[in-house]
Amino acid sequence: MRFIVADNYSYLSRNAAAELAHYITKRPSCVLGLATGTTPIGLYNELVKTYECGDLSFAQVSTFNLDEYRGLSGDHEQSYRAFMDRHLFDRVDIDKAHTHVPDGANPDAAVVCNSYEAAIEASGGIDVQLLGLGHNGHIGFNEPAADFPRTTHLVRLTQSTIDANSRLFSSKDEVPREAYTMGVGTIMRARAILLVVQGASKANIVRRACFGPVTPNVPASILQFHHNLTVLVDREAAAQC
Ligand code: GLP
Repeated sequence: MRFIVADNYSYLSRNAAAELAHYITKRPSCVLGLATGTTPIGLYNELVKTYECGDLSFAQVSTFNLDEYRGLSGDHEQSYRAFMDRHLFDRVDIDKAHTHVPDGANPDAAVVCNSYEAAIEASGGIDVQLLGLGHNGHIGFNEPAADFPRTTHLVRLTQSTIDANSRLFSSKDEVPREAYTMGVGTIMRARAILLVVQGASKANIVRRACFGPVTPNVPASILQFHHNLTVLVDREAAAQC
């Protein structure tokens, strides 16, 4: 594991963007695994800046997002598809046909999940997977559980995740209770992983995820077994390590 502490959120974002830009430059047709949440917004802004300077092109890049709320279609403001359009896809030269987010509008979980796994495989697999970290140690929407889910699946969100994510909805009742998410196995199959975490409220879970016992109670802890993991945190998130 490479564990990098950035002085602040701005440095963290620039560093993370540079890592991803490096993969794209090395292999212009690379497959990126992408994440939502507040943490990656800064790095998406940095990638857009690099694109606007003419130093980066997404024309041949393919992307797979980690997760999507079940019950929200892509045109719902709080869907992860809309988030990605807003923060990255609509601002760079990516071909939208090459961007993938699980289809939240389709209630047929087997169809959504199987076709998502098949599409990842058909693309040749994810070169680098970007991840954020939930307060309870979730990655994507893989919540603490009795085991590590292998493939893309339907999850019931925990109350703590619903509470945390309700800040982005007008009321708690509007937060979907279910989501489609890549499995922990899907994530671990990526050839490289970049985990980004910011803020004092994540300090405890960063320590448990990166340096505690590997357990499905802290889904992110399995990342310790990945052969090419970079953890990029700000000073506050690293405070207990
Ligand atoms: C959501 C997403 C996760 C993300 C997490 C943390 O639950 N499904 O992929 O990592 O939020 O987000 P934030 O960066 O806003 O704390």
